[in-house]
Amino acid sequence: MAKKHKLPKIGFLYLDYVLRFFDYSNFRGWPDKIEAVTYHWKNDKTRFINEVKRKKIDVLVGNIPATAYETFKEIAKALPHVRFIPSIESQFCNKSKENVTLFCEKYNIAAPKTLITYDDKIAEKHFKKCHYPQIVKRSYGPSNYGGYFVHKVDNYKEATKLFAKKKYKPVYTQDAIPLKDSGDIRVMLIGHKPVCAFWRYSGSGEWITNTSQGGDMSYENVPMAALELAVKASKAAKAEYWACDIGIDENTDKAYIIECATAFAAFPYIRDWIGQYIMWDLSDGRFRLPHVPLFSWEELGKMDPSVLRTLRHLYFAKYEPSADGVYWLSDKGNFGMELTDESTPSDMPPSIEPPVSENKLPKMVKGKSESKPSKISKSKLYDINTISLTELMTLQGMEEEMAVKIKELIQNGAISTFKDLSEYHFTSKKQVSHWAKSFNN
Ligand SMILES: Nc1ncnc2c1ncn2[C@@H]1O[C@H](COP(=O)(O)OP(=O)(O)O)[C@@H](O)[C@H]1O
Ligand SMILES: [Mg+2]
Repeated sequence: MAKKHKLPKIGFLYLDYVLRFFDYSNFRGWPDKIEAVTYHWKNDKTRFINEVKRKKIDVLVGNIPATAYETFKEIAKALPHVRFIPSIESQFCNKSKENVTLFCEKYNIAAPKTLITYDDKIAEKHFKKCHYPQIVKRSYGPSNYGGYFVHKVDNYKEATKLFAKKKYKPVYTQDAIPLKDSGDIRVMLIGHKPVCAFWRYSGSGEWITNTSQGGDMSYENVPMAALELAVKASKAAKAEYWACDIGIDENTDKAYIIECATAFAAFPYIRDWIGQYIMWDLSDGRFRLPHVPLFSWEELGKMDPSVLRTLRHLYFAKYEPSADGVYWLSDKGNFGMELTDESTPSDMPPSIEPPVSENKLPKMVKGKSESKPSKISKSKLYDINTISLTELMTLQGMEEEMAVKIKELIQNGAISTFKDLSEYHFTSKKQVSHWAKSFNN
């Protein structure tokens, strides 16, 4: 491609211990060098900012995990001329379930009716008069802990019992959607266009849809209402790429957002499409906008996941009527892939501030006083050599600083079993022996 005008300099935003969503292969054909800047946690802000400046990066591409969100708000402020993709504002929902709710309320996006409060009296009053069942969640942290922090309560007594045990703060509780077909729908979008969608069903006897606990999935029959709601949320978030989990009320067929974020798991061919979309955006259209026919996921989904995992750089030509006249995969509905609007700080709803009197709150919010997830099956046990920072963060009572330290010790080979941690004084004996139960040696 002849260089007509200068392209912006791209840098990948990476964080130690965090899975990388993009790499160079997703940006195939980009003619310039792509930089990478890695955040090392713990007081690494200034160094990170300086590296971005030194490398003269114009665009930083990548997701920010929940635990680093506030830090990156500050980093972005110190780099006013750097565009973050997705924008910091777009990533508001990644931080917590509370943020998802606030986002849906601000943009009038259908979501389960939810109470978020730090006031026990308000919670008490709510549980006395609310509709049951209620779904109670721990708000903090990234999603997809496989439902460990999600509970269903059927009456006041059960609600009281749960909070006596869990002490989640804030109290986050919402109406249960009677889920159609006992499932919810994951929709992935690029430039506000749905490019992949599937049902996730709960395992038999389970109410929660969790494919890692025996649930099933299907790319067939994703309803329009789910796609339309996902597009509405994606546009409100101004997100270059986006995913929603959507529940359909079996009584009314109305769609509700259960979760939404820019962070999600996706096959490499989907990440390739995102890379192509970003290159199209950053080159003012010199690169080709990927064409992904609506419902093509129904066809791709017929392949075995082991095959889908290795498919790369899928190219769909636009359908041109031809002599044989076969009409395959015509685009139904009115879903175009478009540029996102530019984010501004006012896009974000104000957060709910914890009361000052509860200054011990962060620890509780991070799960300090939680009991052990009830189900740790053998296959769920972690391997100390491969555990991610995010997984470490899910251990009961774990805090960010501690998790980072532990990850470093593992990385340096200083500890090879979790019990070895007893020699370090930043953890208590009790904690270590408790955490060790989640590991497979
Ligand atoms: N309000 C709700 N009504 C019905 N089911 C729900 C509701 N909230 C969550 N669920 C079920 O619980 C699952 C896990 O909840 P979610 O909020 O996605 O937490 P996480 O994925 O972080 O564990 C959802 O996929 C859905 O099946
Ligand atoms: Mg979820």
